[in-house]
Amino acid sequence: MTSREATPRRYLMCRPTYFTVEYQINPWMHPTVPTDNARAVAQWTNLRDAYLALGHTVEEIEPIPGLPDMVFAANGATVIDGISYGAQFRYPQRAAEAPAYAARLAELGFETSAAKWINEGEGDFLLTDRYLLAGTGFRTEYAAHAEAQEIFGRPVISLQLIDPRFYHLDTAVAVLGDTIAFLPEAFSPGSVRVLRRLFPDAIEANLADAEWLGLNAVSDGKHVVLPAQATGLAEQVRARGFEPVPVDVSEFLKAGGGPKCCTLELREAGKSA
Ligand code: ARG
Repeated sequence: MTSREATPRRYLMCRPTYFTVEYQINPWMHPTVPTDNARAVAQWTNLRDAYLALGHTVEEIEPIPGLPDMVFAANGATVIDGISYGAQFRYPQRAAEAPAYAARLAELGFETSAAKWINEGEGDFLLTDRYLLAGTGFRTEYAAHAEAQEIFGRPVISLQLIDPRFYHLDTAVAVLGDTIAFLPEAFSPGSVRVLRRLFPDAIEANLADAEWLGLNAVSDGKHVVLPAQATGLAEQVRARGFEPVPVDVSEFLKAGGGPKCCTLELREAGKSA
């Protein structure tokens, strides 16, 4: 079995002070189903503490009233090589999050680059050791993929999402060290072939785990922080030498989010492959 090595990461997170579900922009969100804010804060705190316990650094951004989805920091930008490529949200309900994240990232010392095209940050851009995987179909526009390739100088692989439940790339792909886990059913046939060609050793997840947003996972190269109910995926990653770290994110599932959505990785210049 491959032995996996963790590298320390730096993340940006947003406390869910104003988290609730009050509009519907994905099939998971039902404004009539109540959320429990105290529970959301407890689950978020537990996730942050899990990162700290693994030796990672967690920066925070001040939550803003009236932006209930701001807890999903992954959507705020894409940060690689010290450059922050800003988000531009698909729906007006989240639009004001983009400048807030850009301002915080500038304050943290990142060079910020504003987006011309609609893109929802790391929700649809996932960095692997060789490529920048990019999703389109529901949120991020295809033109943003080309924009990201120019900004980062990394080969962008465009992937077509086809199932509205898996509306962001990070609900259908998890980056795990030098490989990935993904849900074939979430992609167009051509995109599935691309993923199998680029990652012949990829873990193919099952629908039951993906429906718990199991693929919305965060890995440091060794640990895989994932929703507790995705037990099949936890076993699959364990069999490949990773250590699953299950967390309870039941409140965030009501908004269509999991651990990865709550986490924006901050990659400094010269620090990633
Ligand atoms: N309610 C949010 C939305 O629909 C959830 C975002 C989840 N974030 C993610 N990176 N998948 O925009």
